Amino acid sequence: MPETLDFDAAAGVPLAGLTALQALRDELGLKSGSRVFIPGGAGGVGTFAIQIAKALGAHVTTTASPRGRALVERLGADVVVDYTTQHFEDHVRQMDGVFDLLGGETLERSFGVVKPGGTVVSVAGLPEPTTARKDLDRGALLATLFWFASFGIRREAKRHGARYRYLFMHPSGAELSELARMIDGGRLEPVVDRVLPFDAIEDAFAHLEGGHAKGKVVVRMVDRQ
Ligand SMILES: NC(=O)c1ccc[n+]([C@@H]2O[C@H](COP(=O)([O-])OP(=O)(O)OC[C@H]3O[C@@H](n4cnc5c(N)ncnc54)[C@H](OP(=O)(O)O)[C@@H]3O)[C@@H](O)[C@H]2O)c1
Repeated sequence: MPETLDFDAAAGVPLAGLTALQALRDELGLKSGSRVFIPGGAGGVGTFAIQIAKALGAHVTTTASPRGRALVERLGADVVVDYTTQHFEDHVRQMDGVFDLLGGETLERSFGVVKPGGTVVSVAGLPEPTTARKDLDRGALLATLFWFASFGIRREAKRHGARYRYLFMHPSGAELSELARMIDGGRLEPVVDRVLPFDAIEDAFAHLEGGHAKGKVVVRMVDRQ
């Protein structure tokens, strides 16, 4: 646990932080000077992703509504496209990679903004064969099912000369320690939207499902005095 966080803030780190780190560093291979597009940067994963991409030295473009603009700018986003009034394709092109947090139509449109040979990593689209083998350590049967499930998306990727990867985050103590060092060193700030008591867990899920959380929603299992 990072020494500089209380339990509420620390609870928000593992899932979102590891997802962002594995997508950006391990799958997209971001390094100094890389250009990455992160649609949906104001949420639980996005707020980690913007900061980790900046820490890796990348140039970051994200989308946010006016509700999230100030937050994603404060976290370091270089370019912010207001998705409520603008098409991101008008502002985003020739990206080295995309980290998709929204799936659906946004994912399909993302293939048009990467360079030929670039990669779109999604955590909100459909799993593909590598998800079964690499993330879930499963064999040919699941890989085949995922091959069929992702056929349309992979065809769209191929049409743009891009690669599609669906990441299923895997737990890693070593990577959690890296995140803790970044946090304690002041290079990564977990963003907590709200903390609710366990009695209000339905409200917590309702808020998340509303799709407008700014950072993580944390539920306290035991309410401290
Ligand atoms: N595969 C994995 O291992 C894995 C791990 C973690 C999470 N996930 C998935 O990753 C996705 C993102 O998770 P999350 O926790 O970051 O979600 P979240 O916190 O619920 O995201 C909410 C944010 O998304 C923004 N948003 C909504 N619609 C948008 C749009 N069309 N364009 C741009 N921004 C938009 C909202 O901004 P506004 O309020 O301004 O609209 C809000 O700030 C989810 O589908 C989750 O299930 C997968």
